[in-house]
Amino acid sequence: MDRIRIIGGHRLNGTIQISGAKNATLPLMIASLLSEDTLILDNVPQLADVVLLQRILGNHGVDVMIAGKRAGEDANNGRTLHISAKHIVDTTAPYELVSKMRASFWVIAPLVARMGEAKVSMPGGCAIGTRPVDLLIMALEKLGTEIEVEGGYVIARAPKGLCGAEINFPKVTVGGTHTAIMAASLAHGTTVIENAAREPEIGDVADCLNKMGAKISGAGTSRIVIEGVPKLHGARHTVLPDRIETGTYAMAVAMTGGDVLLQNARPELLQAALDVLGQAGATVTPTNEGVRVARNGAGLMPVEVTTAPFPGFPTDLQAQLMALMTRAHGTSHITETIFENRFMHVQELVRLGAHIHLDGETATIDGVPCLKGAPVMATDLRASVSLVIAGLAAEGETMVNRVYHLDRGFERVEEKLARCGAAIERLGG
Ligand code: EPZ
Repeated sequence: MDRIRIIGGHRLNGTIQISGAKNATLPLMIASLLSEDTLILDNVPQLADVVLLQRILGNHGVDVMIAGKRAGEDANNGRTLHISAKHIVDTTAPYELVSKMRASFWVIAPLVARMGEAKVSMPGGCAIGTRPVDLLIMALEKLGTEIEVEGGYVIARAPKGLCGAEINFPKVTVGGTHTAIMAASLAHGTTVIENAAREPEIGDVADCLNKMGAKISGAGTSRIVIEGVPKLHGARHTVLPDRIETGTYAMAVAMTGGDVLLQNARPELLQAALDVLGQAGATVTPTNEGVRVARNGAGLMPVEVTTAPFPGFPTDLQAQLMALMTRAHGTSHITETIFENRFMHVQELVRLGAHIHLDGETATIDGVPCLKGAPVMATDLRASVSLVIAGLAAEGETMVNRVYHLDRGFERVEEKLARCGAAIERLGG
């Protein structure tokens, strides 16, 4: 397995191109199952999760064509996928595939909405927590799906089609909201989703579905209304920029010092995180091209942060912020409210010399004057990248093992950082 080797202590200066968002690309690809026509997606990042989802969709009979680059096109621009779900040959998503990527459970919604049936493996727990799917099932049941759970599979049936309904989520769920929107798009009548997730990726998927002929309003607010339509058609859609990748590189720059333009980034997608970076001592400037992040001279200040659904501070940036706060002048507190076990990075950061104390869902981080390089590994992608951030500032060599996790969600991380002056390289396994 590949490893990433970092020699810490280099400032970051230059430009980093922000890729299309992983967490919009995955549901957008899944939404292609709703139509017989081709969905064209631009700005798709090259990630292991995208490749895996291609395989999962392929199992249902979906044809994915990756368009090559045209001459003169910037090699850093994302790829274009042509996705055709004309012939769905199988409505089962097997354990071997779903267990590798939780979001693939979401295929249940378009399959039952269009084909009247789906059999999808329960995803099981994962490194960041138990992660149940009860709310996704509740939403499908409200829309008239009969659900049975058998042999680890959720079997969904709606032979006469789905019916619009009122869905009130007791807890904000991104996957539940995606599932409800996709299923309701092809239901008879009107669906109202209350307490919907407001994450920008929900709005991006709704925009794409509307281009395909769906009638969705209110996406991006906590009340979404969907008028069902009998059929969706093909469309072309550009994936929005990745706010978590943006926040990750912004924290890397705050960690090392320097001045970097995060090209294509949209500040409004991560205002809460940019505000925290400002409090920590970084200068964040929105520009026509993206967001510029700099830290020159000033030391890092401690912060108090609690993760929350959008527009709050994202759980997907919690590990990276913790890495940054290991070097702050003082004590920070970070509370994780979304996933109960998302602290896999803590012990690895401690191996690099960080002082972190965990008490339930709150981590207390006493900043230290320096970190020392060491071999480290992590079991989820945001935790892995937090170790890269720490390694960029640690004295000597940090070797990040199990790079597979990084490749799931960060496109060419070592290349992007090396171009800005980091001493970082990938070593083949
Ligand atoms: C999405 O996961 C993201 N994944 C996650 O990104 C992200 O951390 C998470 O939203 C929160 O922002 C994708 O978009 C592919 P949820 P999702 O349903 O949809 C509980 C990353 O690193 N819950 O919003 O699975 C759940 O346990 C990742 O890119 C139920 O109780 O998250 C959690 O506590 C990992 N029952 C909370 O809701 C349910 O049926 C929010 O989860 C569903 C969720």
